[in-house]
Amino acid sequence: MTATKGLEGIVATTSSISSIIDGVLTYRGINIDELAEHATFEETAYLLWYGKLPTSSELKGLIDQLSANAAVPAEVIQQMKLYPSDTNSMAALRTAVSSLALYDKAANDMAPEANVLKAIKLQAQIPTIIAAFARIREGKEPIAPQAGATIAHNFLYMLTGQAPEEVAVKALDQALVLHADHELNASTFAARVTVATLSDIYSGVTSAIGALKGPLHGGANEAVMVMLDEIGSFAKVEPYINQKLANKEKIMGFGHRVYKNGDPRAKHLQHMSRELGKLTGNMELYEMSVRIEELVTGQKGLKPNVDFYSASVYTTLGIARDLFTPIFAISRTSGWTAHILEQFENNRLIRPRAEYTGPVDNRFVPIEKR
Ligand code: ACO
Repeated sequence: MTATKGLEGIVATTSSISSIIDGVLTYRGINIDELAEHATFEETAYLLWYGKLPTSSELKGLIDQLSANAAVPAEVIQQMKLYPSDTNSMAALRTAVSSLALYDKAANDMAPEANVLKAIKLQAQIPTIIAAFARIREGKEPIAPQAGATIAHNFLYMLTGQAPEEVAVKALDQALVLHADHELNASTFAARVTVATLSDIYSGVTSAIGALKGPLHGGANEAVMVMLDEIGSFAKVEPYINQKLANKEKIMGFGHRVYKNGDPRAKHLQHMSRELGKLTGNMELYEMSVRIEELVTGQKGLKPNVDFYSASVYTTLGIARDLFTPIFAISRTSGWTAHILEQFENNRLIRPRAEYTGPVDNRFVPIEKR
C-alpha cells in the first residue's frame, strides 16, 4: 500500500453535481461562465439540489421557502450572545450550526424528504447566523430576515438594517453563484465522509464548516485581505511580494490543486472588483491586486484562485474581512447539502487505508521498566 500525499489525483466518488474537466467548471453540466452571467444564487441552489433549473414558479417557491425558514431559534441566538467577544467568525458559525440540530426535532430523521427540507433550512439559517454574529459582537441586536427577500439581499439587510443597494446585492449574488459548488473540494469531502457513516446532515455541514475555515481552503479570502492590509499601498506591493517569494512563502489566493492553468471563477471576481472600484471611485485595492497577480504569475507561474479577487470585492462592499469565509460558507452550503443528499442516495461508508510508516516488531514494556 502506497499513500498519495493529499489524495492528489485520487478519484474518491462518482457525482453528478459539478465537474472540473480540462479546467472547465460546470454545475449539472452548465458552464460556470453562463451561470455567473445569467443565474441567481437561488436558481443555482435549486439546480444543485434538484438537478435542473427551476421554472419561475419553482424559483419563487424556493425563495419564499428560504425566507420563511431564515429565522434562527431564539436559544441559538441566546447562546451566541455568550460567545467570548473575540470569537473567530468561523468557529462561531461552526458552533451555531451544530446547535441548530438541538432545536430541530427532525434532526435525525433520515427520510429523503426530511433531508431536503433540512438542506433548505440550513441554507436559509446560515446567513442569519452570520449576520447575527456580526451584530452581537458590536453590542447590537440581530435583525430578523425579510419575508420574500433573496439570500444576498437579506444577508446585507440583516448586517445593517438598511435596504442594501442593488449593485451590492447583485455583486454578492454573483459571488454566491461562483462559490456554490466545486466537485470534491476539501470541505465537501469532509461533509461526505461524515454523513457516509449515516450521521445527520447537521453533522455533515458542521464538519464542512470546520474544513472550510483553514487558510489553504476557504480561509484564504480573509488571508488575502490581511495581506492587502499589510501591504497598505500600491507602491509597497512590489517589495512586499518579492520579499515573500524570496522567502519561499505562499501568497494567499494563488495556486490550486486542480486548476494549473487558472481558476475559471477568478476572472468574474476580477471583473466585479474592477467595476465596484470604478463605481466607488476607489481603485486602489483592485490595482494592488492586479499588480500582485502580475508579480506572482510572472515569477511563479501561479494564477489567482476564487479567493484572490473576492477579498477586494467584499471589502469594497463594506464587509468586515473576517466575514469573507463565512460568506463562502453561505454559498457552499448549497453544494455541501447537494453532496450530502447525493451521498445518502447511494451510500457506502468512506473508509480509506493508511500506509503505515511507524516502527515494527516493538514489544510492550511494563510501566516500571520504561
Ligand atoms: N504561493 C507561492 N507558492 C505556492 C503557492 C502560493 N500560493 N501555491 C503553491 N505554491 C508552490 C508550493 O510552495 C510548491 O512549491 P515547491 O514544489 O517548490 O515546494 C508548489 O507550488 C506546489 O504547491 P502545493 O502546496 O504542494 O500544492 P497543492 O496542490 O497541495 O496546494 C493550494 C494547493 C493549497 C491551493 C496551494 O496552492 C496554496 O496553499 N495556495 C494558497 C492558499 C489558497 O489560496 N487557498 C485557496 C485555494 S482555492 C479554495 O480552496 C477555495
